[in-house]
Amino acid sequence: QHPGWPAHLGPVRVGAGAVTLRPVRLRDAAAWSRIRMRDHDHLEPWEPTGRGPWEARNHASNWPPLWSSLKAEARRGAMIPLVIEVDGAFGGQLTVGNIVRGALRSAWIGYWVTRDLGGRGVATAALALGLDHCFGPVGLHRVEATVRPENLASQAVLRNVGFREEGLLRRYLDVDGAWRDHLLVAVTAEELSGRVVDRLAREGRLTLR
Ligand code: ACO
Repeated sequence: QHPGWPAHLGPVRVGAGAVTLRPVRLRDAAAWSRIRMRDHDHLEPWEPTGRGPWEARNHASNWPPLWSSLKAEARRGAMIPLVIEVDGAFGGQLTVGNIVRGALRSAWIGYWVTRDLGGRGVATAALALGLDHCFGPVGLHRVEATVRPENLASQAVLRNVGFREEGLLRRYLDVDGAWRDHLLVAVTAEELSGRVVDRLAREGRLTLR
């Protein structure tokens, strides 16, 4: 096994409920598909373009091969694919990817949260738990993220946990059917004094346990 995998993180409590993170499971198929069908409009503008219609790509039968490739990446230490749970129910996903060790010790992080949970601190709490895990047990030095300039909610989440802007990547990623500019944001270990969740607790954004 690799440092930091498998991971069970939290709980921390926010307005929406108790937020925990745990590894993706084969039996997530039904919840994953049902939510992604329902939240099509909420998710598609921000996600990499896929082949074929959304309904086909997010059918429950697509989860087992996706789950299997995520688990394979996790087993070789390149990825940490987690489900965000709120009060024990599937609430979204948080993924750490392209984990590179050696002199770089870096990765990217990305997430989505269901529309019905929106605006009640779930993404902020999940990202804080994910970052603390990356800089703690996983042993990374730098975590980066890319976000569309139009995605103001996600930029607020990234700011909440301490990411700062590094630049604009022009026509960086094929998202929602076209090459989209993305802001590159990052944080390195020495920029954070202590755990992010502890700072957010002091700021009254969440409570521990
Ligand atoms: N303009 C500006 N700020 C906004 C807007 C808006 N239209 N809507 C919400 N916000 C702010 C809120 O005020 C809040 O900021 P605050 O804490 O400083 O008040 C923040 O956005 C939302 O914080 P949370 O409640 O923690 O986030 P939430 O659980 O609602 O999840 C997320 C936000 C992840 C963006 C969710 O809406 C989502 O999944 N969207 C679709 C997929 C997506 O965009 N994923 C992120 C891609 S980028 C990446 O992965 C690095």
